[in-house]
Amino acid sequence: MNINKYQDISAIDKEAKKDYIDRHSAFVHCESVAKKGEKFKVKVQVGDEYKHPDDFDHYIAYVQLWNGETQLATAHFVAGALGNQPENLEVDFYIVPQKKMKLTATAYCTKHGLWESDAVVVDVQ
Ligand SMILES: [Fe+2]
Repeated sequence: MNINKYQDISAIDKEAKKDYIDRHSAFVHCESVAKKGEKFKVKVQVGDEYKHPDDFDHYIAYVQLWNGETQLATAHFVAGALGNQPENLEVDFYIVPQKKMKLTATAYCTKHGLWESDAVVVDVQ
């Protein structure tokens, strides 16, 4: 499967293209330092400035959290879970880290495929 890598939309001119890229992009939000062996919250959001549709034939079906090449978690959604209206899907994952992590998230749109976030490095102390 082709993976769409994150692109910074500030460098893109066309409004329709900014919207298309942003609404599919996954973003990882978390602290930059975690405590070893303690629960750590990682929020994944899809879209920042733009919202993705939640239609019966076009919606974000899952988001995944990865540490390097290791898949940590997946959250599945059904069409209509976000009210059949454009929305920024959000999932809070809680993981317990053991050592330094390089986190990425992916979002899968039923029409436009898989989208991967930038990596976020988390130091574990
Ligand atoms: Fe889409």
